[in-house]
Amino acid sequence: MASVAARYDVAPLSEGVPFGATVSGLTLASLKDEAVRKSLYDLWIDKGVILFRGCEDSEEMQLELSSCFGKNEEHLFPSVRTQGNSALTNIKFYPNDGALYDVGGEQRGGWLPWHSDLVYSAAINHGGILRPQLIPPRFGKTGFLCQIAAYDRLPQDLREKIENLHVVYEIRIDFTELRFANTKNVKFLRMAESGLAIERNRFTYPRVIHPMVYTQELTGRKVLNVSPGFAFGIYENGSYEGDELLHEVCKYCMDPELAYFHDWQMGDMVLWDNWRVLHCAEGTHPEDSRLMLRTTIAGDYARGRALGVDGPVADFDI
Ligand SMILES: [Fe+2]
Repeated sequence: MASVAARYDVAPLSEGVPFGATVSGLTLASLKDEAVRKSLYDLWIDKGVILFRGCEDSEEMQLELSSCFGKNEEHLFPSVRTQGNSALTNIKFYPNDGALYDVGGEQRGGWLPWHSDLVYSAAINHGGILRPQLIPPRFGKTGFLCQIAAYDRLPQDLREKIENLHVVYEIRIDFTELRFANTKNVKFLRMAESGLAIERNRFTYPRVIHPMVYTQELTGRKVLNVSPGFAFGIYENGSYEGDELLHEVCKYCMDPELAYFHDWQMGDMVLWDNWRVLHCAEGTHPEDSRLMLRTTIAGDYARGRALGVDGPVADFDI
């Protein structure tokens, strides 16, 4: 049997970006090899983002590859699941359907601020793999930011202040309602049909809290565990003082010097670790269409808690 190293090639994701890797030459058949699956998992934990380029471009490949990193699960919201296979989520924008925003004076379809997926739920999925079906001729990039690198840049006094604090998260479909995600120059123009279905049920989802810092189990590295998207304040201090602290921390989370923006090609697949990497969507020109399929990799880092009227619903070491 060929060695793991011979089953695919690894290169950096991008010059000057302190995370990520590019994998090429991987085949569907090689994913039957447990050693290959394990080595890909270890690379993902180490690097946070993997671009798979020049590999087989099929739904079977996307799902099999995704299963190397955890169980494929259905998205929390039925309205965004694909009809053909509920383990895949539609990320879509069409001129006649999809969320539309004015971002700094220009219209963008499917625009998304920096966020972690499902951070408004207690059990955040471990990751996902995006694969394009329809790439717009303009814009449409996806941004990634590493929160281990962000923690490393955090001044010592801020590290000490946030060590034992938690952030409160809530679901919002109109992203201009978000408080910490740099949406001052953004206007909400149109809601996606799938978003409307979520919005109708918004009060059935409890608020949740997640710790601002946690330690990555396999490596011992600390993660700045804050998603500007869906954050509404610091649980231990709901006053302006807490808000000021969270705004200060979010500047480090969204540091543009650490960002990588992926310019999609057909056949690409991008995997990210949702427990340590933020992502955002640049959005699409309103006359163009974009369709991506995303897997949802199950997992629970077991540090999120739903909030009841008396505080966290489950035991919490705060
Ligand atoms: Fe997302």
